[in-house]
Amino acid sequence: MEKPYLLHFATPGPRVSPFDVNMAYDAGWDAVIPYAGVGPDDITAFTQDAIFSRGPRGVRRTALFLGGRDAWLAADMLEASRAAMVPPFEVSVFADPSGAYTTAAAMIAKVEHALASRFDISLSGACVLVLGATGPVGLVASALAAQAGARVQVASHAGADRAQVAVDELLLRAAGAYTGVAWSEDPAQRASVLEGVDVVLAVARAGVQVLCERDLLAAPRLRVAADVNAVPPAGIETVGAFDDARELALPGREGRPVLGIGALAIGNVKYRTQQALLQLMRQADGAQYLGYAECLAEARRHVA
Ligand SMILES: NC(=O)c1ccc[n+]([C@@H]2O[C@H](COP(=O)([O-])OP(=O)(O)OC[C@H]3O[C@@H](n4cnc5c(N)ncnc54)[C@H](OP(=O)(O)O)[C@@H]3O)[C@@H](O)[C@H]2O)c1
Repeated sequence: MEKPYLLHFATPGPRVSPFDVNMAYDAGWDAVIPYAGVGPDDITAFTQDAIFSRGPRGVRRTALFLGGRDAWLAADMLEASRAAMVPPFEVSVFADPSGAYTTAAAMIAKVEHALASRFDISLSGACVLVLGATGPVGLVASALAAQAGARVQVASHAGADRAQVAVDELLLRAAGAYTGVAWSEDPAQRASVLEGVDVVLAVARAGVQVLCERDLLAAPRLRVAADVNAVPPAGIETVGAFDDARELALPGREGRPVLGIGALAIGNVKYRTQQALLQLMRQADGAQYLGYAECLAEARRHVA
């Protein structure tokens, strides 16, 4: 009898994500087994518990998926799991905490595509403002934008100190040009932040609007406004969930278009990226280690 394809799904938190369980079954895994409370102290033993029982053929039908809410903890656990393998007893590992790796990767890939196809430019040298940058999606989007050569403004509505904590973490994780900025309710303060911004990424908590039309009009260099929040109201006023590099109707911006990319346009690429990587783990001959860099490489294949 052929051995079933088993995906062991571990999270440091109290429960795994039903979204990810659905995705894994839809990608063809025969069983997705959830484990709560698996943290950095436990991941080596957890990994080795998964690899030795099935023999060389069975081990290829086994993989690990790491969830949780912490973007950096998941990266550490991915590396620890990789280090715990004992070849030939080696399985694939995919980290995607809170969907942050695939979502941020899809967002960056969509923005890159819009910049290239409509303005013939890249993220290299661009100024990118990340609103909600201290959350898991925002941290990873900041890291990926910086690694693509952008100057990243890491914004927090809780103030500059909180933004700076995120910058300090980012500098340890992904070398790049980051500046921590406060994002207040004051239109003049917002306008001063927006002055030199080329791209805005709205990645704040679901259902929170972080940028209004007045802000868009206060950003003279703005080319792309991308929003991952699918829960009304939109994270960016005037950007619709289905907008896919749609030119926003902004008074006074004729001849200087701003393209809007909405949550469902990004979500579509996120979905395809996650599906493809879950399938890759089932089909590849060798073990795959999938973090946010691999998610971006895959997302770039799914933008059109
Ligand atoms: N489209 C997709 O496929 C997809 C997939 C996954 C997630 N998402 C969306 O991605 C977004 C980010 O997810 P996440 O898990 O990283 O979010 P999160 O951790 O819930 O929130 C991110 C940040 O939002 C900021 N924030 C919270 N309340 C705020 C408020 N009232 N005003 C302004 N900012 C506020 C906080 O940063 P500060 O306090 O430092 O400002 C927080 O760190 C969410 O909207 C989520 O629904 C979309």
